[in-house]
Parts: sequence; C-alpha cells; structure tokens
Amino acid sequence: MSTPASRPDTTRLQRLAHSYRDAAALMAAVELGLFTQVALGADTEAAVARALDLTPTNAERLVTACVALGLLIRDGERVANAPDVARFLVDWEPTYAGPWMLFSKPDWNEWGRLSTHLKRRDIVVLGKYAQGFSVEQARRYHEATYSIGMGAARRFVRQVDLAGRRQILDLGGGSGCYCIVAAQRHPQLRAIVLDLPPVVEVTREFIASHGLADRVTAQAGDFTRDPLPAGSDVMIMASNLPQYSREIIQAVVSRAFAALQPGGEMHLIGEMLDAARTGPRDPALWGLAEALWGSTGIAHSVAECRDYFERAGFRSVAAHEFVPGILTRVTGIRPA
Ligand SMILES: C[S@@+](CC[C@H](N)C(=O)[O-])C[C@H]1O[C@@H](n2cnc3c(N)ncnc32)[C@H](O)[C@@H]1O
Repeated sequence: MSTPASRPDTTRLQRLAHSYRDAAALMAAVELGLFTQVALGADTEAAVARALDLTPTNAERLVTACVALGLLIRDGERVANAPDVARFLVDWEPTYAGPWMLFSKPDWNEWGRLSTHLKRRDIVVLGKYAQGFSVEQARRYHEATYSIGMGAARRFVRQVDLAGRRQILDLGGGSGCYCIVAAQRHPQLRAIVLDLPPVVEVTREFIASHGLADRVTAQAGDFTRDPLPAGSDVMIMASNLPQYSREIIQAVVSRAFAALQPGGEMHLIGEMLDAARTGPRDPALWGLAEALWGSTGIAHSVAECRDYFERAGFRSVAAHEFVPGILTRVTGIRPA
C-alpha cells in the first residue's frame, strides 16, 4: 500500500496541462516590451502600467505572473529583470533574443488541434517549408533564428578549431549565422550557405550586413535531393534534424560525406534525445511539433545520429553536448 508521501497527486499533471499559460505570459511580455521598460526604470506596477499603456489591473496581472515565473524579481514594490531576462530580453542588448521567443507563436493555434494532427496520415516531405515561404516570411523567420543562432555560432567556433580549414558548406544554414561567425573569426575561410530559394535571398542580406559577401555566399537548393556543392572541408547542418525521418537524415549525411573533401569534418548540430530515448523534453517536443506539418520528422537520438555518421563512412565519430538539454553536436571525419 502506498504511503501518503509516495501517493501520486495531480499537481504535476495540472502544471503540465496549464503550462501554455507560462508561454503566453512570456510571449506577451516580450511583445509588449515589458522587460525593456523595466530596464529603463519602469520598476513598479504603476510605472509598468504607464510605460506599456495598460490598465493598473492588467499591469498588476502581468507583473505578478512574471514574478511567479521567475522572469522578474520582486523586492517589495519594486521589480527587476532576472539575470537571463536582463541579458536576452532587453531590446538594446546585442544578445537580444526576443524574436526567438516568438518564433513558434505562429504555430499556437495548430498546437490546440494537436490531437487532430496526430490522426493525419498524409506525408509532406518538406513539412512546414512545403507551403512555400514568401521572402517576407523567410525574413521574419530568420530574424528569429538569427537572434538565437549568433550565440550558438559563437559557441561553435569556440568549441571547434577551424584554423586549418578552407571552406564550409552549411546545409539549411538559414541566416548564415554559423558561416558569418566562422568567417569573422578565420580570415582564410570561405563559406557557402545552402538553403531553400526564398531563404537564400534573406541569407544574402545577413551576409551583406556583416560585410562578408566576398567570402560567404548563399546557394539555393534542397539538401534532400539536389547535388551538394563539392570542395568543402567542413560541413555543418544545424537545427533542422527533427524536421526529417531517419531515412532522410541518413541519406543527407551519406551525401554530405560523399561531397566532403577527404580529411574533412562534418558537424550535425541538432535537438537529440539521449541514447535511451528518455528525454530531454525539448528535442522530444520539436519532434512532436512535426505532426503539425505532416512531415516525416521525428526526434532522433544521439545514438541514431552517431549511427548515421558511421554508416556513411565517417571515422572518429563523437557526440558533444552543445546547448545543455537543447542541442547536441555529433561530429565525424571523412578519412583522408
Ligand atoms: C530552424 S532553421 C536553422 C537555420 C540555421 N541552421 C541555424 O541554426 O540558425 C532550419 C533551416 O533549414 C532550412 N531547410 C530545411 N529543409 C531544407 C532542405 N530540404 N533544403 C535546404 N534547406 C532546408 C530551412 O529553410 C531553414 O532555413
């Protein structure tokens, strides 16, 4: 018989069932500019009401929720931004990631219809990208990925020594953040960002804004079926892993191996489950998100990703934690 201490109760389930409200509070606070206004000195509920043009009641509601969620820290009547909020959600900071916090918001209504989507049987290989982005949609999408990707790219160039390398090919490179940061750090490097046609127009804008158009270029293509440009000794594929099935990822890794210069290296950076497929939750939920688009995508485990590399012929295959709980980096070398 279970003791009272071990008897399950509903608190965890209630928390999960209502957790969409956490997301809504964060997104509304970002949209309204709450954290920027707090940093500017609107540090009481009354001041927040004035700065955001809210009724006193709604300002109190929002501030109270943000304090309870740990986004704001209360000291009596005054509030301050939590350290991560101060660094990433105040809009003049170079590390501002507000657009990324709103990245998945367009999917909000479809998550409310998840059970219906899970009953679907149609398959759309390109998933959400099959609808055909306009350039304007691609620009909005990649303002968000850029706001988080530049930090990831800086982390990548700190972890990976590219000093002796000549050319990167970034599959599904989006804003070009990895190539931009790598080219900034290593003047000898050239780079090609391969992405879908509407995206590369936006990629070129990001590249030009960093003054790197002479060394970083963008090429339109679908990495699931188009030939991959040859001549690169570094291949990167970042943050598009759960969008495709095991078979497709295996095929892309094998084609990347064939296109890579002998002695070259590949880095697959993605939302990966642990080898036992017990979590973490972030990769699992990116996999679940693919049900909304009817794609082939699923959450891949780190063990599966290592297998894709080994089957393709890579040697020295290794997995490294990249962003804890979110991204893992699997790497391998094409033998010389
Ligand atoms: C979530 S974004 C990640 C962008 C970038 N790698 C980063 O880490 O910031 C995924 C990118 O993969 C691109 N992509 C997805 N499927 C693709 C395909 N079949 N061929 C080329 N690009 C693709 C998308 O257009 C998008 O730019």
